[in-house]
Amino acid sequence: METKIISIAGEKGGVGKTTLNIMLATNLFHLYSKKVVLMDYDDPQYSVFKKRERELNSIDENEKNDLEIYPIEKVSTSNIKNTIIQYYGKVDYIIIDFHGGLTQEMIEGLMFVEHIFIPFDHDELEIDSTYNFYLTLKSNFLENEERVLKSVHLFFNQYRKIQKNKFAVLKGQLMSVDLPFMKNVVKEKEIYRTQYRNTLFPIPDNKELGELDIKKFFKEIMELTSKEIKELEN
Ligand SMILES: Nc1ncnc2c1ncn2[C@@H]1O[C@H](COP(=O)(O)OP(=O)(O)OP(=O)(O)O)[C@@H](O)[C@H]1O
Ligand SMILES: [Mg+2]
Repeated sequence: METKIISIAGEKGGVGKTTLNIMLATNLFHLYSKKVVLMDYDDPQYSVFKKRERELNSIDENEKNDLEIYPIEKVSTSNIKNTIIQYYGKVDYIIIDFHGGLTQEMIEGLMFVEHIFIPFDHDELEIDSTYNFYLTLKSNFLENEERVLKSVHLFFNQYRKIQKNKFAVLKGQLMSVDLPFMKNVVKEKEIYRTQYRNTLFPIPDNKELGELDIKKFFKEIMELTSKEIKELEN
């Protein structure tokens, strides 16, 4: 099985990395039948791992027995490599959730990631930090002969927060500096903070089907990470 190691990651804190990695993992697993492992690299908080435990404790035993779930692993600098080796070839996606801040620990973890998706906010102050993070990745990982990193993409998260015309202007400016933006944006929705941010249950089949809805974003991630295979096949 071809395993892809991916992460919604970035230097900036509190921009939705964990929320979206959880939703991505849960929905790739349930809606698109992908084998997935989610690695919680937010040592020592391990909020994703703890969230899964809380969610399991909140449902009754019968429901628990019938439930199919993907694994969530706690990882740190000392065991990340071995944990990846343990799953490599056995799952479609290894998804790693990093904390914010470009720490030494994060850099060590980034060495293993093949596709990075950076959430981008509209705040002008963030443009610099996100752009710098992108350049750091590009010069240290993408253009490095021994790289594993194959692609870096950026996307807008919490899209509703900004006016559409402002977004268009901003996107135009960013496009002109040739940043690899994803076609799809992630809107700001209360339900992404609550019901849909769940490690056990996916988004219902009949929800999020519109052009600007998050299933499109998940599909684009799958497309972007399988591009190479398609190119080879053609
Ligand atoms: N698209 C969205 N719609 C609604 N709420 C969102 C969205 N994206 C992020 N949030 C909310 O923003 C807050 C921060 O998100 P989250 O914890 O996922 O960020 P993070 O980047 O992982 O932070 P950290 O750097 O601390 O790890 C949370 O309350 C989350 O639910
Ligand atoms: Mg986080």
